Amino acid sequence: MRLLTLIASTLLTALAALPLQAAEGTVLITGANRGIGLALAREFTEAGFDVIGTARKPDKASELKATGARIVQLDVTDPDSVAAMARSLDGVAIDIVINNAGVALDRGRELPDLDMAAIERTLEVNTMGPIRVMAALYPNVKASDRKLFANISSMMGSMEMNTWGCCLGYRASKAALNSASKTLATDFGKEGLTFVVFHPGYVQTDMNEGKGNITPAQSAAGLTRVIAGLDADDNGKFYDWEGKELPW
Ligand SMILES: NC(=O)c1ccc[n+]([C@@H]2O[C@H](COP(=O)([O-])OP(=O)(O)OC[C@H]3O[C@@H](n4cnc5c(N)ncnc54)[C@H](OP(=O)(O)O)[C@@H]3O)[C@@H](O)[C@H]2O)c1
Repeated sequence: MRLLTLIASTLLTALAALPLQAAEGTVLITGANRGIGLALAREFTEAGFDVIGTARKPDKASELKATGARIVQLDVTDPDSVAAMARSLDGVAIDIVINNAGVALDRGRELPDLDMAAIERTLEVNTMGPIRVMAALYPNVKASDRKLFANISSMMGSMEMNTWGCCLGYRASKAALNSASKTLATDFGKEGLTFVVFHPGYVQTDMNEGKGNITPAQSAAGLTRVIAGLDADDNGKFYDWEGKELPW
């Protein structure tokens, strides 16, 4: 009897020493210090995930810190920053990577007065950024249970829904992100990876000077529910924040 008590207490001590693993898994969200990214960090924490949130300036990311997320420095346009992030997460299985960081810089300028520097920067952040992050974190996602990349694009990236023009660089950057996601879905779906593209709604954030018709919390609540429920059958799909399928 004494021996049994000793074994039980040793086992309990050993279990208590193990790092706590969130039941739902680990999610990494880029651009998580404000806007939709910050709201996603709050929602995924609430839903029982371990959250890793990235910020360009971690020391200024006080609201992200308040969620309890692990914060990692990341500028998606800087290959050294992306490599440093990947090194700091070496060996960490990441179930879901949400490429959320983005900019909209080229509004209000049309031919022949296009702002070429703004268009280039938009492509660099919105297209090259997520591609860099997916390449760098591929081993982490591959090693996880869910193996999911969720890319926050926009309905502005849809060809079929482009009925009113505007914002050449922003539209092109999201269309290229959609294309890259679709390509990776085809190439890596057979390895069990899932790539899904999202329109988060028209959301009241700094990006549109607070002009959206839903709050970041509403958008993130919908996205979290849909993303957490994805499986391999969703590979290569384009959804809105409520899970409605959108045309490419
Ligand atoms: N708001 C909308 O209505 C709407 C609609 C469709 C799609 N989206 C998409 O949703 C995503 C989030 O947008 P949001 O409205 O939440 O925008 P936001 O409030 O302006 O936040 C953008 C986030 O991206 C980060 N970011 C910008 N450049 C970065 C870089 N080079 N490296 C790393 N992080 C960078 C920002 O970090 P800093 O604080 O350091 O700048 C910030 O955390 C974007 O991809 C956007 O295109 C938004």
